[in-house]
Amino acid sequence: MPKQTNRKNEHVSLAEKFYPRQQSPFSDIQFIHHSLPGIDVADVDLSTSVAGLTFSAPFFINAMTGGSDWTGRVNEKLAIIARECQLAMATGSISAGLKFPDMADSYRIVRQTHPNGLILANLGAGHSVENAQRAVDLLQADGLQIHVNAPQEIVMPEGDRSFRHWLDHIQAIVDNISVPIIVKEVGFGMSRETIQLLDDIGVDAIDISGRGGTNFAQIENYRRKDYKLDLLEDWGQTTPVSLLEAGEVSLKTAEIIASGGIRTPLEMTKSLALGAHLVGLSGEFLHLALNDIDQAITTVQQWKETLTKIYTILGAQSTPQLQQAQLILRGDTAHWCYARGID
Ligand code: FNR
Repeated sequence: MPKQTNRKNEHVSLAEKFYPRQQSPFSDIQFIHHSLPGIDVADVDLSTSVAGLTFSAPFFINAMTGGSDWTGRVNEKLAIIARECQLAMATGSISAGLKFPDMADSYRIVRQTHPNGLILANLGAGHSVENAQRAVDLLQADGLQIHVNAPQEIVMPEGDRSFRHWLDHIQAIVDNISVPIIVKEVGFGMSRETIQLLDDIGVDAIDISGRGGTNFAQIENYRRKDYKLDLLEDWGQTTPVSLLEAGEVSLKTAEIIASGGIRTPLEMTKSLALGAHLVGLSGEFLHLALNDIDQAITTVQQWKETLTKIYTILGAQSTPQLQQAQLILRGDTAHWCYARGID
């Protein structure tokens, strides 16, 4: 088996091995309850839009996999969930599909299974404009995610060691690819400084993908055969902290997507109230897809019903209106805000 194919399988099996994870940083966030919601359940519309794309639900299946036969079958299951629940879906990095043409089907299966769905392609920040276009074409993708994952690369023995040109590469892709460009982290979160740089070059959306869920420092460390680099296992900003950092930037072009450790409708709602326009889940969907698929579809439909109920008690008729909901911050999240001068 080629090294890259084996790595794709290991990422999926280790993400599932380390599920479920530590205590959620969302326990630091609490809504203020008001007793007169002023709306009915029937008034609620869950849809949202980001980068000119319309999503019927405020959450989607975020980037994970492809690049081997087994992960192609995982992609098919994820795409069935997406199709049956009318969700958008991103594939994992298409790099392997570009390098090894016989692996392209493990990504293409997503478009074949969900022909009318909103599908996002995914590639690392080291790639050229030409590769970005090939990734979009492979999936007839509606948008392209570019992942930035320096801590993961550093812990990976075979990982990249050169990050100098990432911003230039992203800029070239933004300038030359016609579908919306989303720059995303992979579970290490973002600072306001990073978000500002990405907004300055005109990216359409930024997925802050924070710490608190799938932990790629832990996964890559576990894969290492020589010596362990576990000092990075709690590296990065949590998802709530990253959203609060994003709130400090006056964004010109980019809209914010939340991901990283989001598992429940209440955590989705908290992310949206902290300023996200859309929420991505990876580890949670992987766990569902690796188990009973009918149960997965039922669970996702229940999430939508629960979201409608939470929006109602918050008096929010639509996803954008959630941004007016009032929150109290506690614990480490409140300390971070104090240290960084966030009101
Ligand atoms: C990922 N993630 C990811 N992200 C990306 O941009 N390109 C990729 O190829 C992958 N690959 C990948 C594989 C597996 C098995 C998992 C679980 C995740 C990262 C993912 O999109 C997300 O940013 C993080 O997983 C944090 O979200 P969760 O898992 O805590 O919801």
